[in-house]
Amino acid sequence: MTKSLIITQQEIMNNLDLKEVIDSVERTYYLYGKGEIIMPTKITLDMEPLGSSNWFISMPAYIKPMDVVGIKFIGGFNANKEIGLPYIMSQILLNDPKTGVLRALMDGNLITNMRTGAQSPVFAKYLASKSDILTIIGAGVQGRATALSMVEIFDFKEIRVSDLDRDARKRFIEEVGNKTSSPILAYDSVEEAVRGADIIVTATTASTPIVYRDWVKPGAVISSIGSDQELDEELILQADKRYVDHMEQNLDRGEFHRCFEKGSLGEDDITGEIGDVICGKVVGRESNDEIIIASPIGMGCLDIAIAAIVYDRVSG
Ligand SMILES: NC(=O)c1ccc[n+]([C@@H]2O[C@H](COP(=O)([O-])OP(=O)(O)OC[C@H]3O[C@@H](n4cnc5c(N)ncnc54)[C@H](O)[C@@H]3O)[C@@H](O)[C@H]2O)c1
Repeated sequence: MTKSLIITQQEIMNNLDLKEVIDSVERTYYLYGKGEIIMPTKITLDMEPLGSSNWFISMPAYIKPMDVVGIKFIGGFNANKEIGLPYIMSQILLNDPKTGVLRALMDGNLITNMRTGAQSPVFAKYLASKSDILTIIGAGVQGRATALSMVEIFDFKEIRVSDLDRDARKRFIEEVGNKTSSPILAYDSVEEAVRGADIIVTATTASTPIVYRDWVKPGAVISSIGSDQELDEELILQADKRYVDHMEQNLDRGEFHRCFEKGSLGEDDITGEIGDVICGKVVGRESNDEIIIASPIGMGCLDIAIAAIVYDRVSG
């Protein structure tokens, strides 16, 4: 008999470790590449036409090898910071794919943050040429989560962080510094933080470019996880290769969507999806000089896979 549970953030925290989340993200990309997952494009509920700058997205997925179906309902709320709430808020529903019976309603915030943080290290594992210097632009929730996952699988000589907000930088250094012995340096200037870095992650709420072509060294991989364009168009267009997590979803959100809308990029300019790289169906990095841009905009199947791990554990 299926148990229907309400699972809190605390229970999720007690039943998940970060390395497991990173492994799950890699395996779920692989299963997606193998065609073992059905995941339609996110449906966006944009409330701007009625005067709200907030948004919601529905993210359903069926993962056959895990025998699970589910949906994440997630939103972004600009004024939340002022009242002490996170910018991103979400819930996950898990169902039995054979009967439709509810397995769980659970908090989605922690799973979202952990899996968002795990995306860039998995892209970097397959696409980076070197991993001496990591730069994170945007020291908020997703920037910190990304750095925590990065230090799980790479041993950096130097970690750099830049953010408009000094308090965010300070919090980043405290939190990430607790998990690594690598030196962490804070920068006022995005340019100084980016020059010479091997792996660059942009995790800001910016909607205008903050990283430029001349600052990026040959061989760097840039993972842009902010929901809007964060890189200058020249950098995007002159990159040697561009990868996404899910092609269709990247057409209207994330790093490349404005270029698609303008017509300066077409779908053929995307080298491939990361799942296909992991499965060996699409070529990855071919030289140590290539500049590669990744846009992991986030896939609902990543959330559902991790939620299923938690459900199995909590339901015993
Ligand atoms: N790709 C994904 O899977 C995924 C998942 C969740 C959230 N997101 C997106 O990631 C982005 C960050 O979300 P968050 O939850 O970390 O938000 P947050 O508010 O916690 O952090 C954003 C940080 O970016 C900084 N920032 C904004 N503009 C900047 C600029 N021009 N230069 C330097 N720093 C700047 C802010 O000061 C803030 O510290 C958002 O766009 C969000 O929608 C993506």
